[in-house]
Amino acid sequence: MVSIKSDEEIRLMKEAGRMVAVVLNELKQFTQEGMATQELDEKARRLIKSFGGKPAFLGYRGYPYAICVSLNSEVVHGFPSERSIMEGDIVSLDLGVEYDGFLADAAVTFSIGKVDPENQRLIKITEEALYIGLAQAKEGNYIGQIGSSIEEHVIKAGFSVVREFVGHGIGKNLHEGPSIPNYSLPITTPLLKKGMTLAIEPMVAYGKGDIYITSNGWTAKTKDGSMAAHFEHTVLVTPRGGEVITSI
Ligand code: MF3
Ligand code: CO
Repeated sequence: MVSIKSDEEIRLMKEAGRMVAVVLNELKQFTQEGMATQELDEKARRLIKSFGGKPAFLGYRGYPYAICVSLNSEVVHGFPSERSIMEGDIVSLDLGVEYDGFLADAAVTFSIGKVDPENQRLIKITEEALYIGLAQAKEGNYIGQIGSSIEEHVIKAGFSVVREFVGHGIGKNLHEGPSIPNYSLPITTPLLKKGMTLAIEPMVAYGKGDIYITSNGWTAKTKDGSMAAHFEHTVLVTPRGGEVITSI
């Protein structure tokens, strides 16, 4: 079942989306070499509260933080901790906010200080893949067109998509139907309809893209230790493509 949101529900999701965008932007500006990643989590909680929202990840299936901070070969679901951010690190921040019962979810990746140009290219290609994918979130298209366009861009650049995690529908719940893999699907249904809301989130690795889950039970890392990047937006399906609701 894929739900179609009413105008009022879309309005609330846009409010949640604006909070996600503002907070992610603030966190990105605030991130500095030498800082412990848990400082980002504390700041996120304060900001979300001040805007009248709730951290959507906190407590979701027992997830213990408001944000995910994934460094370098961590793909997703990195735990904020005492670990310091260092020059050359690739930092991914992932955040969900609930406002009046409705959610939005987004992620960004950026680098700290002087960074290997190949890592910079990985980040750029992943962000491009997100925008190429969300342009396909158009009324009348198949879900599979999102993933196949993402995968094509990533493969052409010589990188791999991570297949164990997928994008998802979103609304009252963080994860709703449909699943949105970042690769082409043999099953090409369902058709996209106006008013669906989707979180599209390419996760891209420099190497093969196989992952394992670390001992905290959450954090996904690449098996080959290669760097990974992750970008995500929540979008509204329209006749012209995905309308991003998690940007300012
Ligand atoms: N953007 C990720 C997702 O949609 C983050 C989820 S973290 C969790 O799966 F803790 F909430 F699971
Ligand atoms: Co998501």
